[in-house]
Amino acid sequence: MFKEKFSEGIITAKQFDREDIEYILKKGNEMMKIKNSNLLHGKILATLFFEPSTRTRLSFESAMYRLGGNVIGFHSGDVSSIKKGETIADTIRTVENYSDCIVMRHSLEGAARMASKFTKIPIINAGSGSGEHPTQALLDLLTITEEIGPLDGLNIGIMGDLKYGRTVHSLSILLSNFDVNIYFISPESLRMRNRDIDFLQQHKIQYKEITNYRKILNILDVLYMTRIQKERFVDIEEYEKLKNFYIFREDDLDDTKDNFKLLHPLPRVLEISPEVDASKKAIYFKQTFYGIPMRKAILAELMTD
Ligand code: CP
Repeated sequence: MFKEKFSEGIITAKQFDREDIEYILKKGNEMMKIKNSNLLHGKILATLFFEPSTRTRLSFESAMYRLGGNVIGFHSGDVSSIKKGETIADTIRTVENYSDCIVMRHSLEGAARMASKFTKIPIINAGSGSGEHPTQALLDLLTITEEIGPLDGLNIGIMGDLKYGRTVHSLSILLSNFDVNIYFISPESLRMRNRDIDFLQQHKIQYKEITNYRKILNILDVLYMTRIQKERFVDIEEYEKLKNFYIFREDDLDDTKDNFKLLHPLPRVLEISPEVDASKKAIYFKQTFYGIPMRKAILAELMTD
């Protein structure tokens, strides 16, 4: 059923209802128990990355190899024929002849949606501008459910660049399927966009928007930190003003619950002090591990015959 529903691929977190999320989290959990298999032997994944990536590209590629499949692709638009003026549409029409599924990252918000119109093989959105990053949000939920427990009832803070941060857009959309309280914590100029707030209001999710995280640190089960997205700012002076707006330090942990967990999709720049890394409450590197089982689960669901 998942394969039929997601036959065009994973473009947005809005494709997922609660049942889909619970299903893929279960599959992600199962994938943790089998490190290597031959499930996708003979299949080819194409990874087309027009923007930099460490975790997303390498974890998709690792996941594919661990499932017995093969990978082709490029890690920059500069090394593809896009550099010569080829369109995304023509690139996708070509790569579909070479592969069974395409993972694509692009700086344009609608790129993955557009790409899906030009192919019959699944497209996985690996980050589209400031828009969305749905598979990151799925691995974030796998991290929370594996490390803390069920999502319902949790108090979740989402902090940093909520305007340009694509992971927080996808994460809040997925969370709208659960009975959670969300605290959006940001500078005024980097608040969640109106369209994301409208979506959450339509889904009647409990949320508050605040600026000072210290006021609510003691009630949070999860704090999801994000980087100020320098590459999205039109005015670099504005970035310089905001880049140090939040720095989570070791003494902030003193105010948190015993089972509090600090997440971050990474890369981290200045927003979490390195001394926090040693705390059991800081699980952002464990979070990178959960990228593998979640992406194995996604690839297996979309690519198995
Ligand atoms: N979380 C994430 O998308 O990391 P990369 O940019 O390294 O892929």
